[in-house]
Amino acid sequence: MSTAAASLDKGQARVADERVLVLDFGSQYAQLITRRVREQNVYCEIVRHDITVEQVRNHSPRGLILSGGPSSVYEDGAPKCDPGIFDMGIPVLGICYGMQVACEALGGKVENTPSREYGRAQVEVTSDSDLFTGLPHETEVWMSHGDQVAQVAAEFMPLAKTRTCPIAAVKHSSLPVYGLQFHPEVTHTPLGGMLLKNFLTAICECTGTWTLGNFAKETIAAIRERVGKDRVICGLSGGVDSSVTAALLYKAIGPQLSCILVDNGLLRKDEQAAVLSEFTDHFRADLHIVDGEERFLAALKGIDEPQEKRRRIGHAFIECFKEEATKIKDAKYLAQGTLYPDVIESGAAPDGPAATIKLHHNVGGLPEELGFDLIEPLRDLFKDEVRRLGTELGLPEDLVWRHPFPGPGLAVRCLGEVTREKLEVLREADSIVVGEIKSAGLYRQTSQAFAVLLPVQSVGVMGDARTYENAVAVRCVDTADFMTADWSHLPHELLAQISTRIINEVKGVNRVCYDISSKPPATIEWE
Ligand code: XMP
Repeated sequence: MSTAAASLDKGQARVADERVLVLDFGSQYAQLITRRVREQNVYCEIVRHDITVEQVRNHSPRGLILSGGPSSVYEDGAPKCDPGIFDMGIPVLGICYGMQVACEALGGKVENTPSREYGRAQVEVTSDSDLFTGLPHETEVWMSHGDQVAQVAAEFMPLAKTRTCPIAAVKHSSLPVYGLQFHPEVTHTPLGGMLLKNFLTAICECTGTWTLGNFAKETIAAIRERVGKDRVICGLSGGVDSSVTAALLYKAIGPQLSCILVDNGLLRKDEQAAVLSEFTDHFRADLHIVDGEERFLAALKGIDEPQEKRRRIGHAFIECFKEEATKIKDAKYLAQGTLYPDVIESGAAPDGPAATIKLHHNVGGLPEELGFDLIEPLRDLFKDEVRRLGTELGLPEDLVWRHPFPGPGLAVRCLGEVTREKLEVLREADSIVVGEIKSAGLYRQTSQAFAVLLPVQSVGVMGDARTYENAVAVRCVDTADFMTADWSHLPHELLAQISTRIINEVKGVNRVCYDISSKPPATIEWE
């Protein structure tokens, strides 16, 4: 089944008529290539490297991009593509390993080079071509390879070289096949966007029709058609994904939408009220708030092992949700805010997963036993696209740019056993952290910022008295994908202000530390 058809099955519009496929050979940059193509208003998705000619045909792509990858093409078992794809008349751009695969498949030779190239390099354009239109004769690029194409078949024309790589770009003379040994998708190749644009517009003849406005219109129409007169339940968490999902649903079916917010008692300060006011300001749908605090706290009593805490919270959530959902008559569908990275990371993509798969926490949601048909209108989108879509749908800035918050909530930030008293302390400290970062104008720049209540007490002195109280860690990270992250280099004055306010204003805390670990080896959350 084609992805378009599969998407329709999930209650979505066919996302674009102009589409490009990225064949993933295990590159860490496959998602980045996809995003770069979408930035040119061309819909793009990742498929397995061994997609068949028939499957490619079902997608009707305008172009194919072969990603990089960690292997050597001459090794046994190295991933290859169906060689038939080069004869389909569809333009192909091979990047790094992808170029080596294409050149080898079409009669060239790839070798390990004595001088590996990692990092910045100057590339010199040696022949005119539609791929390099508008680029200067010399330009900076990002290289990351141990192998390179040593020899190309006679039909290939070298287009560019670097000091150590004589064939840094190629074009086939009779097939629409191109290759780049360097990475146009990374920001370290400053004119990489221009190269991709040349490939998409001049070579693939895309006009750039994919916009989030069109996506919203088509998705709303598709939901309306699929749902008919039935009722849809949507779980709200206060986060951007579930809010945008609800907004799309609301525009599509209005009063046939019922939303459920489970207040697990593990939300941030004033969060339930914030969701409620955002919800009532923007929708008039049926809203059910489940007060689950007692149940969750009872489930967590005496438990300090992180995975067991998560398991119990997950279980209590399903129970609460199920109880409320069964009160909603005639519900046939359940809407979830699953995003594209969740789909490819969990291997659920119809044409197979990318090579570097991690099962991420955010995948999963509610079990099938609830018996609903799923509607996942965001499953083709990246997080930043969801944010832009939220703005397009008229959701407030505050909601659209809210940092992600884990399903198990403050429980994974209240280390050890969770109690109501500890949660109160943590909520106050957390609200100071976020408030101060917002006041400093750094909230949008940081990806996640929060407080963690540590399970230790330390000695301090307040006034003339000795104290023996809690320690709070401040965690603030910068990340593009939440798979890797760096700690945010916040100004010292801001850290000082956060620390002073927490110690002065939050009863029971006498020490504040700043977490300066990156991920890996640490994770973003402490549990
Ligand atoms: P880690 O701590 O693994 O977190 O670096 C990566 C991202 O995932 C979020 N996270 C979770 N989200 N359930 C969730 O829905 C969870 O159990 C969970 N654990 C971590 C975390 O906040 C960060 O954005």
